[in-house]
Amino acid sequence: PAVVRQYHEKVIDHYERPRNMGSLPKNDPDVGTGLVGAPACGDVMKLQIKVDDDGKIVDVKFKTFGCGSAIASSSFVTERVRGLHLDEASEIKNTDIAKELCLPPVKLHCSMLAEDAIKSAIKDYRRKRQSHSATKPSA
Ligand code: FES
Ligand code: FES
Repeated sequence: PAVVRQYHEKVIDHYERPRNMGSLPKNDPDVGTGLVGAPACGDVMKLQIKVDDDGKIVDVKFKTFGCGSAIASSSFVTERVRGLHLDEASEIKNTDIAKELCLPPVKLHCSMLAEDAIKSAIKDYRRKRQSHSATKPSA
């Protein structure tokens, strides 16, 4: 009989070899930082994006203090958003992440954390950008 596995192999793969783990300089005006927590379990995820002048995500890093599914979700999201425009990246849904990683229903909030983190990083970047350009005369 087949062994019932709790996690899909993609989760294990991202968990064991997370992509893009680390940090970007928080004070860099081209970097947006999202820091979010899951009230259900207390897990925390930090996700950072570096954006070029065309609004394209050129680099992305994460640090997650949480369960395997949360780590796998953040690792997956970093790969997914690299090279995307901010508008495209902000459309990523946690259900896409959960589907791709075959997360079970009890682990849906872990992928929600990844959606929240990318949205919050985009928001932070845009906020920074606005206050930054407010100090400079526009071209
Ligand atoms: Fe938070 Fe999974 S319950 S680590
Ligand atoms: Fe809470 Fe996964 S983020 S159990």
